[in-house]
Amino acid sequence: MTATARQSRRHLAFEEVGSTNTVAMEAARAGDPGPLWITAARQTAGRGRRSRSWVSEPGNLFASVALIDPAPADALGNLPLVAALGVRNGLAALPYATKPAIAIKWPNDVLVSGRKAVGILIESERLPSGRMAVVVGIGVNVASCPSDTPYPVTSLAQEGCRADLAAVFGCVAEGLEAALSLWDRGRNFAAIRLAWLQYAAGLGAPCRVNLADRSIDGTFTDLDEAGRLVLKEPSGSVRTISAGDVFPLASADAASTYGHVAAQ
Ligand code: BTN
Repeated sequence: MTATARQSRRHLAFEEVGSTNTVAMEAARAGDPGPLWITAARQTAGRGRRSRSWVSEPGNLFASVALIDPAPADALGNLPLVAALGVRNGLAALPYATKPAIAIKWPNDVLVSGRKAVGILIESERLPSGRMAVVVGIGVNVASCPSDTPYPVTSLAQEGCRADLAAVFGCVAEGLEAALSLWDRGRNFAAIRLAWLQYAAGLGAPCRVNLADRSIDGTFTDLDEAGRLVLKEPSGSVRTISAGDVFPLASADAASTYGHVAAQ
């Protein structure tokens, strides 16, 4: 393990861990005041959203940051959008042979040229002290991406990015720190929402939202003031959705706003 103190950023870099999210949460439980970044060259038990595993090939970025009481509890639901915006902006600062479109698919996948290149997993826990520990875990496909995923994926290398892992980590961490600062502990979610909408994949286009128990088709028309996805169904009724997986449905609008549309 190596520790770096680049300006004020606290960062522990490991060769191999089960999951950087687990290590970051253990640090918070042990009393670390945060923010503390954990990275690892390899994960043996990387976790994704909805209890899926996250394929963790060496050469990709596995980073988690432990935050203690980053905002009042009622604002924490915004964090996926804050994190996605920060990571998106971090990736946009990297050098590419030809700058690709870098978009955000609700709530917090980052797409490069319409394909998923980043996954974000946020976990939180109330500590015995009463404080809330929140871990933002970020997996970036830097050198490679998995095959046989149910959605299109890519890596930064495949998109012509010439940065090494250390540079990707630096930009991702800076991007996230800047977004957290703009968010201002939840007081300025309005600014996050506007910036997020600027990079939204699929805005105005038809999509399918897979909920825990069913799917709903409609047009993604907006984010509401709490960051929920606003979906207009073909019947004209409007729903707000707080959790789900969004897939574009083939159409000219979807093709232009995602950059790529998976067959459904
Ligand atoms: C997703 O399912 O899209 C979220 C994937 C999150 C993966 C990252 S890799 C670093 C951190 N450690 C983990 O075990 N998961 C997150």
